[in-house]
Amino acid sequence: MTGAEEWVLQGGQIVSPQGVIRADLHIQDGKIKDIGPDLSLSQELPCIAAQGFLVFPGLVDPQVHFREPGLEWKEDLASGSLAAVAGGVTSFMEMPNTKPPTTSPEALKDKLRRASGRCYADYAFFLGASAENADFLGEWEQAEGCAGIKVFMGSSTGNLLIEDDATLERVLRSGSRRVAIHSEDEPRLKQRYAEVKPGSPHRIHPEVRDVETALKATKRLLRLVEKTGRKVHLLHVSTAEECDLLRERDLGDLVTAEVTPNHLFLEAPACYEDWASLVQMNPPIRDRRHLETIRQALVDGVISCIGSDHAPHLLEEKNKPYPLCPSGIPGVQTILPLLLMAVREGWMDYPKIAEITSQAPSRVYGLKSKGILQAGMDADFVLVDPQWKKPLALSWIRSRAAYSPYVGMMTHGFPIQTYLRGKRVFDLDQGPGEAQGSPLVYQ
Ligand code: DOR
Repeated sequence: MTGAEEWVLQGGQIVSPQGVIRADLHIQDGKIKDIGPDLSLSQELPCIAAQGFLVFPGLVDPQVHFREPGLEWKEDLASGSLAAVAGGVTSFMEMPNTKPPTTSPEALKDKLRRASGRCYADYAFFLGASAENADFLGEWEQAEGCAGIKVFMGSSTGNLLIEDDATLERVLRSGSRRVAIHSEDEPRLKQRYAEVKPGSPHRIHPEVRDVETALKATKRLLRLVEKTGRKVHLLHVSTAEECDLLRERDLGDLVTAEVTPNHLFLEAPACYEDWASLVQMNPPIRDRRHLETIRQALVDGVISCIGSDHAPHLLEEKNKPYPLCPSGIPGVQTILPLLLMAVREGWMDYPKIAEITSQAPSRVYGLKSKGILQAGMDADFVLVDPQWKKPLALSWIRSRAAYSPYVGMMTHGFPIQTYLRGKRVFDLDQGPGEAQGSPLVYQ
């Protein structure tokens, strides 16, 4: 790649939610200046040939845990964002359950300071809601680099928690941006964990954190959304019942939803037999009935976004007996290979991938210049080789949690190069470029 500020990506198959067209991209100062046929012929600009490649808009991952500060042995902003760009993710929104948790403007500033010069993708950070900070969130959520507010209705990794409706209502009444919600009912979780026998097999995880745990919290949430009129985003939907509920209630833009690739591609009980704690996450991976309904909800638009919930833990932590082993699966890097496999399986197409991984998360959270390849937008894109057919290699994984339940899976199409604001930030052969991520800009 030239260091040029103005250049043309020539002859790629440009993917948008509307379709796939063969076109050139004219890039100037990190933005797309023009898109159309044969732009390279009319001007004397440096060109990069993209013939034979699909060009997807850079993925926007609205849910990652990059563990810095305080848990850097699992991941940090540099290693997490490198994994991101290796998989075609050019923007990420990072979760607040670090140590200390991101529950104040100072903690947010600290993350932004740490991110500067070390991130390969553009970034923003969620503020975690708590009973103590609930009334300040409306003011704090306006800060530069803030992705919005995150609520844990049920406890997971870390100690962030809003377990009662009165406090949740205070959070929803404080501020105006969309609130990201981990929806599991804490009182029910407490009861159910009290009955777990230490050392039980991991396959009981979906019974411990059962359908009712998720459904109950989501019902409570929807009542409060209707009462307060606050927009929310339901993270990692894991049950058929919640899909049906979202479809029936149809609250339009008030309630958007996201799913992880894990809930689309792993299924119980087989995944627990194969991978044990390595596929233990919250909310859990469930059986085929849920997987099929969730896939359909994504295809129908009831669920609009993909979020990886990249949640790395080291193998020695994962090897503790149930229920002490921490929950979470690394996944920021494997979104695209998995969805490309879904195209091969016939239930997804390229335009839908562009919609659910880039346009929808940008729209849901109100990003200014991301989400689609068109004139005036940031030149964030990933070149995909659609002919690629090799087993997914462990050596490709960049996360500090050096495993993935998808290692060994036969891929059908693969991300080859990733560009952020017109500069190459990852190449499959040559590795990373410069860490030149900057804070995401919201409308
Ligand atoms: O499985 C999970 N792991 N779910 C969460 O909500 C948190 C995450 C983590 O941070 O480890």
